[in-house]
Amino acid sequence: MPNSTAQMNGESKKRSHAWADASDEEDTKNDHRLKGEVAKGEAGPARAYTNGRNKKPRRNFGMPNGVGVAGSSKLQNLKEQRRQLPIAKGREALIEEIRRHDVAVLLGETGSGKTTQVPQYLLESGIAGAGMIAVTQPRRVAATSLAARVAAEQDTSLGQLVGYSVRFDELAGPDTRIKYMTDGMLVRELLSDPLLTRYSVIIVDEAHERTLRTDLLITKLKTILKERNTPSDGKGKASESAGNPLKVIIMSATLDAEKFSQFYDSCKILYVKGRQHPVKIYHTAVGQPDYLDAALRTFFQIHVDQPPGDVLIFLPGQEDIESLDKSIRLYANRLPAENMGVVICPMFAALPPAQQAKIFQSTPPNTRKCILATNIAETSITIPGIKYVIDTGKHKEKRHIARDTGSGFDALLTRDITKSSAMQRAGRAGREGKGYCFRLYTEEAFDTMPVSSEPEIRRTSLTSAALQLKCLGEDIEDLDFLDRPDLESIHSALKMLWFLGAIDNTKRLTDAGRKMAALPLEPNLACAVLESVKNGCTHEVIDIVSVLSSTSKLFFDISDERENAFEARRKFRHPSGDHMTIVNTFRSYQDIAATESKAARKEWCRKQYVNERTLLEALKIRDQLRATCDKMGIDWRTTAHDDEKPVTKSLFRGLVLHSALLQPDGTTFKQVYGRSVIKIHPSSSLADKKIPAIIYDELVYTNHIYARGVSAVPKAFLSEMSNQIKDQIN
Ligand code: CDP
Ligand code: MG
Repeated sequence: MPNSTAQMNGESKKRSHAWADASDEEDTKNDHRLKGEVAKGEAGPARAYTNGRNKKPRRNFGMPNGVGVAGSSKLQNLKEQRRQLPIAKGREALIEEIRRHDVAVLLGETGSGKTTQVPQYLLESGIAGAGMIAVTQPRRVAATSLAARVAAEQDTSLGQLVGYSVRFDELAGPDTRIKYMTDGMLVRELLSDPLLTRYSVIIVDEAHERTLRTDLLITKLKTILKERNTPSDGKGKASESAGNPLKVIIMSATLDAEKFSQFYDSCKILYVKGRQHPVKIYHTAVGQPDYLDAALRTFFQIHVDQPPGDVLIFLPGQEDIESLDKSIRLYANRLPAENMGVVICPMFAALPPAQQAKIFQSTPPNTRKCILATNIAETSITIPGIKYVIDTGKHKEKRHIARDTGSGFDALLTRDITKSSAMQRAGRAGREGKGYCFRLYTEEAFDTMPVSSEPEIRRTSLTSAALQLKCLGEDIEDLDFLDRPDLESIHSALKMLWFLGAIDNTKRLTDAGRKMAALPLEPNLACAVLESVKNGCTHEVIDIVSVLSSTSKLFFDISDERENAFEARRKFRHPSGDHMTIVNTFRSYQDIAATESKAARKEWCRKQYVNERTLLEALKIRDQLRATCDKMGIDWRTTAHDDEKPVTKSLFRGLVLHSALLQPDGTTFKQVYGRSVIKIHPSSSLADKKIPAIIYDELVYTNHIYARGVSAVPKAFLSEMSNQIKDQIN
């Protein structure tokens, strides 16, 4: 990188400022086109609820407990903001339509007020009756931050009238009437309440994202509606005999309205017109292989040359966000004093709620806010004040890499986005006035992007979904989905469940399977917990699965500093591998936490290259798992003390399909129940060791297939397992 701004400007003009100036034509014609297509595809007459345009830029978005306007004037301010939202003008018409229909699809541009307002309208108008309103979100950070916002708008503290529920974290109580939750949590509630009787309205939000859980809900809600609402008077009205009718609203920010509507017997499509100012779109003249560097340069070009207005940069994931955060900080500090200051706000799935508030707060005078976000900011969360968008054109996508034998794996891969994402990203710049979007890719690259992404049901592992459906007495292969899953991936899920002992030879759910589903874990980790009960080491296994279920990794893995990290962690390293190393690290951290100050804990984590956020999250998860164990009558206190054998044995049971044997070359391993040849990831404590047999948490796919989170297991486990499998078959 150049070391002065002047130099940087000069150089960047040459290198990445060669923006191909897409004619004004393009502006947000893209978005207009979106509208056009929607209008064409409607099943019923669409209602444009409002064409309200707000010319006044509004910047003061207070979060609950946020800084800014205090007390009643803050509430007044929120009320005024609610009134100004595009959806507000159509409030009565919208309520009327929802009153008349059991199911509706609500379509509207991001920021029009769907997610925050519709639940409040339904509550305020009495449509929800005495039941609760659930609003599902694909991402936990959206669920928690939206709940906080709506609680503030209702002038209550979070967890009372308005609450949230995400895996391992819930803030809701007996008074809660509006609950923002992840789609996965509502699927989980199906297990204990198959007709979701606590809810009178279920809003499936961000349906266009087509996550596996959202698709599952859309499928299940169709039958639940039939059961709860007697359909037969022809007008779709619920008869009184049903007693507890349900309303379902599918909300989406993009095109798919027609598909959702058809799925629900051509239900009504309602349309909220958003507010969109023109956005001028620029593409780079040539491809930018180093998107982080390109984003950094583009940010400073805007910052130094362009009028005030906040910048939103779309990046694929947390690591990129953290790394760009550092470099922007570094260069911003070197700018001459006459430049505006920079306030950087990261936004990604694992961001703790306390830090989420920052992105909604207004910045001090003479500063520019720079938000570094994943695709969370595409449609789920609208951030005020954005005038410039920088789009790297990348996102992370979970994909199931199928192997011929069925023992595939899910990998989180950085991939190019779709046209629909690119348009949404650009649209974020034009909410309050004319905006600018800098795409760090060429126009040709945009043209070759697929229109929209494949639904998750067609690209991720179905194991846990198949298990949950089994518990509901249903077979994933028989269900009516918006898009059917692949046969191959259904087989691989069933095979996994069979290996874990969750289903028997006749594909019937076993007792163990039911218990696995009751634990809020992936089935393989749940299986390890159940096995630990037999082996008397539930304490350790729960510690391990808590860390493995956290959103981020425990150990920072910075390739340049791998050696230092390796040294620093020597004292935790267990000869059996990464799982017992987790136990040791977790224990040491708790010792420190019991005696030392917060700052000392932080420093300790920094020195060992340990992510404290992961440990804090793992502690929360562990509490939840222990509470679940208590409910299930599992004694989680049993411990193997310093003996690792029972622990690896329990993990082996859950990770059986993730076992591999050393090959004669002494460096690569071959999967026991698959055909892939893998290596131990360089970040593992067992890297470069010759271990006859290993288990691993996951495979990462770079220039080779690497196993991450590796432990050595005695070969005897493998033969015991194959005997057990023979018994299972007989
Ligand atoms: O769902 P939709 O995209 O239609 O809009 P929304 O999420 O209901 O957002 C409505 C408004 O609330 C936007 O102007 C957001 O910026 C604002 N909002 C906020 O200020 N703080 C939040 N935590 C969430 C939303
Ligand atoms: Mg929304």
